[in-house]
Amino acid sequence: MKSAGVTSLATAVTTATVAQAQTGPRLVGPGDVPVTLMVNGKRLELKIEPRVTLLDAIRNRADLTGNKRVCDRGTCGACTMIVDGRTVYSCSTLAIEVQGKQIRTVDGLASANGAMHPVQQAFCDTDGLMCGFCTPGFVVATVAVLEKHPNATRDQISKGLDGNICRCGTFVRIMEAAMKARTVARG
Ligand code: FES
Ligand code: FES
Repeated sequence: MKSAGVTSLATAVTTATVAQAQTGPRLVGPGDVPVTLMVNGKRLELKIEPRVTLLDAIRNRADLTGNKRVCDRGTCGACTMIVDGRTVYSCSTLAIEVQGKQIRTVDGLASANGAMHPVQQAFCDTDGLMCGFCTPGFVVATVAVLEKHPNATRDQISKGLDGNICRCGTFVRIMEAAMKARTVARG
C-alpha cells in the first residue's frame, strides 16, 4: 500500500529517463523552483528544491506539523497522507511529483468548527495511543480505509493499516478505535 510513494518515485525517475532519451535532458533545480500543492483544499504556492519531500514541504514550509517524521525512510507510516484517495508515505514522495493532486493530511480532518473527525474522536475515546508519534499516520490510514470500505471488516481494516507501525505496541486499542470509528461514521 504505502509502497505507492517509493513506487511513484521510481516511476518518476524512469519517466524522466525515457523523456530525456527522447527529448534531451530537461534540468529542474537543483535550486528552488515553484511548486504548487493542493493541501486540505487549499492552494499552497512554494519555492522549494526539487529534492524536497512532501512531508518536509508541508511540515517546514506550510507549517502543517500534524503528520510526523519518524523513520524518514518509508517504513513506519507516521507520515501517511492521502493523495488522490490513496495513502502514501509522504517522507518518500517528492512534493514536486504530486502537483495537481489532492493532498490530505491529519491537519485537515477536523471540521471547520473544530469538531474532531469521527476517527480522531474514536482514537481519543478508546485511548488508542501512548506516545502519539504514530497516531497521525494511523488516523489518516484509518480514514482512507473507511472511505473506501464504509462497512470494513476487521480484516480490511487490518490490511489498510498494515503499512503503519506503533512502537509503543498499542495495536489492540488502535484496532478498537478503527472498529468504533467505522460504526460512528456509518451512524
Ligand atoms: S516517517 Fe515516513 S514512513 Fe516513517
Ligand atoms: S503510540 Fe507510541 S508509537 Fe504508537
